[in-house]
Amino acid sequence: MKKIQIEGNQLLEGTISISGSKNSAVALIPASILSDEKVTIDNIPNISDIDALNEILTYLEAKVEYQKNTMIIHSDNIVNKEIPESISTKLRASYYFMAALLGKYKKVEMYFPGGCKIGLRPIDQTLKAFELLGAKVIENKNKYTITAERLIGTNIYLDMPSVGATINTMLVAVKAEGTTIIENAAKEPEIVSVATFLNSMGAKIRGAGTSKITIDGVDQLNKGFTEVIPDRIEAGTYVLAGALMGKNLIIKNLIPKHIESLILKLKEIGIPMKIGTDSIQISKTDNLRSIHLKTLGYPGFPTDLQQPITVLLTQCLGDSVLQETIYENRFQNIYYLNKMGANIQIHNDKIKITGPTKLVGTEVVATDLRAGACLVLAGLSAQGTTVISDVEHILRGYENIVEKLQTVGAKIEIIEI
Ligand code: EPU
Repeated sequence: MKKIQIEGNQLLEGTISISGSKNSAVALIPASILSDEKVTIDNIPNISDIDALNEILTYLEAKVEYQKNTMIIHSDNIVNKEIPESISTKLRASYYFMAALLGKYKKVEMYFPGGCKIGLRPIDQTLKAFELLGAKVIENKNKYTITAERLIGTNIYLDMPSVGATINTMLVAVKAEGTTIIENAAKEPEIVSVATFLNSMGAKIRGAGTSKITIDGVDQLNKGFTEVIPDRIEAGTYVLAGALMGKNLIIKNLIPKHIESLILKLKEIGIPMKIGTDSIQISKTDNLRSIHLKTLGYPGFPTDLQQPITVLLTQCLGDSVLQETIYENRFQNIYYLNKMGANIQIHNDKIKITGPTKLVGTEVVATDLRAGACLVLAGLSAQGTTVISDVEHILRGYENIVEKLQTVGAKIEIIEI
C-alpha cells in the first residue's frame, strides 16, 4: 500500500511547472471519438484518471497511441458495446462517453459514472438534455440504455450551470440536426477548451464561456489537434503551497485569469504575490487576515480549491467562514485537519475556522482527491511527520506531485507499506 510521508515546515523555493488540466483532458479524450479521423491531444497529464479513459478507448477498440503526454486517437472502427460498471465507475468523466457515443451512434449502454464520494452527484440534467434532443433513456439498476432514432436540436435550460451537463449536451448536439441552445450553461475554461477543440474539427459552437451556448449541428467532424490548457486547480494548489511555505516560490505555465478568484482572496488575506503573464511568484508571510468565502461555478471560487484553501485559513487571525455550495459532503478533510491541531467547526454547509493554530504532523487519510491535496498542504506546513494514506485519490489528479514538491525543497516521499 502506498502512502505519502512529509517532514513538514520546510521552505519551498524554486519553480513548479503546471501540467495539463485533468478536467479538460478527461473531456477532450471522449470528445475525440466523435471524429472518424485521427485526433492528437498534447499536454495530457500523466495521472491515473487518464489511464482509466485509455482503458475505455481500448475496450471500445479505438486505436490509441499514448506516449509521454501525447495521445493519438483514431475512432473510425469503434465497437459501440456496453461499457461495464467495473470500468464506468473508475472515474466521473466516463460519462462523457455516454454523450459522445450517443452523439456518434445514436445509442449507448453504460453504467452510472464514478468519481470522488463528495456528494450525491446526480446526472439528471445530462439525461434531461439527452431526452430533449430526442433520445429515450431507460435506467435499470444503475445501467443506462439510451437510444435515439433522430437527434434534433432544441433549446435546453439547465437547472444549474453543471459542467458535466454542459459538456455532455455539446457532445450530443454537435452532430444533431439543426440548432441547440444551452441556457444557463456552465462557464468553466474546460468548457471553452472542449468547444474550441470541436470547432477545430468542424463543429459550429458559439458562446462557450458564457451562459448561452449555441450549437449548429454538422454531419461529420474532421481530424483534430489540441493542446490541453494548464490545470487551474493544480496551479491553485501550488499557489496555496507558496502562500503557506513559499520563499519566492514560482508557479509557472498557468493562466492567472483562470484562478482570479483565488488570487483576489489571497490579496484579501494579505499574501504578497508577483503576477506575470503565465506565472505567479509567492512567499509565506505573517499577519494573515481571516476571510469569508463561498464556492461557486466559474468565475466564482472553485469548489475544487475549497479543501486546499482551508489549510491557509487555519493560519489566519480570527474566524474565517467558508460555505460549500456545490457538494453535500466535501468536508471530510476537516476531521483530519482538526487531528493535526486546527480549530474548525462544521455547521451544515459552512465551516468556521478559528486561527491561527499550529499544525502538527500525524496519520491522516485522503478521503478524496482534493481532501488529499489539502492534507499534502497541511503536511508541508506542519511541524513533524505527516503520513497520508489512500493516496491513490491524490495520484488520480496531480501529475508527479511528489517529484514537483521535492524539486522545490519539500521533504516528501511515497512510501510502500
Ligand atoms: N448537479 C445536479 N444534476 C446534474 C448535474 C449536476 O444536481 O445533472 C449538481 C450536483 O449537486 C453536482 C453539482 O451540481 O454535484 C456539480 O456538478 P457538475 O456537473 O458541475 O460537476 P461534474 O461535471 O460532476 C466537474 C469536475 C469536478 C468539479 C465540478 C465543478 C470533472 C471530471 N469533474 O464535475 O471536479 O468539482 O465539475 O466544477 O470535470 C475534482 O476535480 O476534484 C472534481 C470533483
